[in-house]
Amino acid sequence: MNTTDRRNWLKTVALGGGFTLLGGLQGYASLTPDAQSPFKGLAKLNSNENPFGPSESVRKVIQENFEVGCRYPFQYMKDLVRDIAKKEEVSEDCIVLTGGSTEGLKAAGLVYGLEGGEIVAADPTFQALLRYAEYFGGYVHRVPLDASLTHDLDAMERRVTGKTRLIFICNPNNPSGTLLDSGKLRDFCSSTASRAVVFSDEAYYDYITEPDYPSMTSLVREGYNVIVSKTFSKVYGLAGMRIGYLVARPDIASRLQDSLMANTNSLAILAAKQALADTDFYKFSLAQNEKCKDMIYAQLDQMNLPYIKSHTNFVFFKSGMPIGNLIEKMGAEGVQIGRPFPPLLDWARISTGRIEEVEAFNRGLQRVLT
Ligand SMILES: Cc1ncc(COP(=O)(O)O)c(C=O)c1O
Repeated sequence: MNTTDRRNWLKTVALGGGFTLLGGLQGYASLTPDAQSPFKGLAKLNSNENPFGPSESVRKVIQENFEVGCRYPFQYMKDLVRDIAKKEEVSEDCIVLTGGSTEGLKAAGLVYGLEGGEIVAADPTFQALLRYAEYFGGYVHRVPLDASLTHDLDAMERRVTGKTRLIFICNPNNPSGTLLDSGKLRDFCSSTASRAVVFSDEAYYDYITEPDYPSMTSLVREGYNVIVSKTFSKVYGLAGMRIGYLVARPDIASRLQDSLMANTNSLAILAAKQALADTDFYKFSLAQNEKCKDMIYAQLDQMNLPYIKSHTNFVFFKSGMPIGNLIEKMGAEGVQIGRPFPPLLDWARISTGRIEEVEAFNRGLQRVLT
């Protein structure tokens, strides 16, 4: 076997193992759950993933670049950092690539929570940064969401003191799916950033449909004490590849860079670079998400169950049943739904996903609750 044949043969063997979907795709809608999945046969609607990813063009890049698996990721970072800096309109030294945005959230939790650092956050909200800070001796002031399950910015501002080191905003918020008024958000961030660092978790930013809704990267550009996290796990469909990034002023960015533990990996970097270029898949994913959300809303309306109009790829609704029971009963219907979010223990979070998965959710919910 000559070298080229051998290489092709190796690729074929490798593809047979994990990437069985590459041949003959007739558009994204034809993608099916991968054969190796431990979730086979289940509607997996518990983790806010995008089941259509990676896009076809990203799969091709991954397939054609297996050999980078033997190289450390650092030499591949520069190109992606350049593309992200251009997209976010900041200089390259404002970007920190991370292993999923979780690594960036944890690095910030460590840096600002260490040894008694105080943090102000909404409750419930995404926990990665907060829990990590607590592990390292930080103290988190949890401020309940308001009656519409949105961050209560006035109450949060009242909790900021001279000891506060970081204010955590998750916008749109996980699990409620709510979006802050853009003017209020900007005013809050710009005024509190003189007293502590503001962290804006924008994992779901791409799903916002409100025109010209600002990312808090605009404040980074203006030199504020603001850190923004973004991810390739959601609309780009790369949750399993583990890649995300932080945007912050260069002095803050370099401190966070030094606190990373694992970093992302070479294949993920190449995949993310291609994902940014694949605007067709991006648009497809957003359209699919809107379709699925409408199907979920219609079901909840028909069953008279309260829910929050979501700016994300999931819907938070009040089932009225203790969440532990609902998770178990929906599991028996073949549908995985989101974990408990105390104190809202008769609410449930359901991710969008494939149309068939949402249909299974709708059928299952109807059976379980009636
Ligand atoms: C609000 C929020 N931030 C961050 C993340 C972390 O995602 P990742 O580490 O995959 O970027 C999630 C994941 O669900 C999330 O909901």
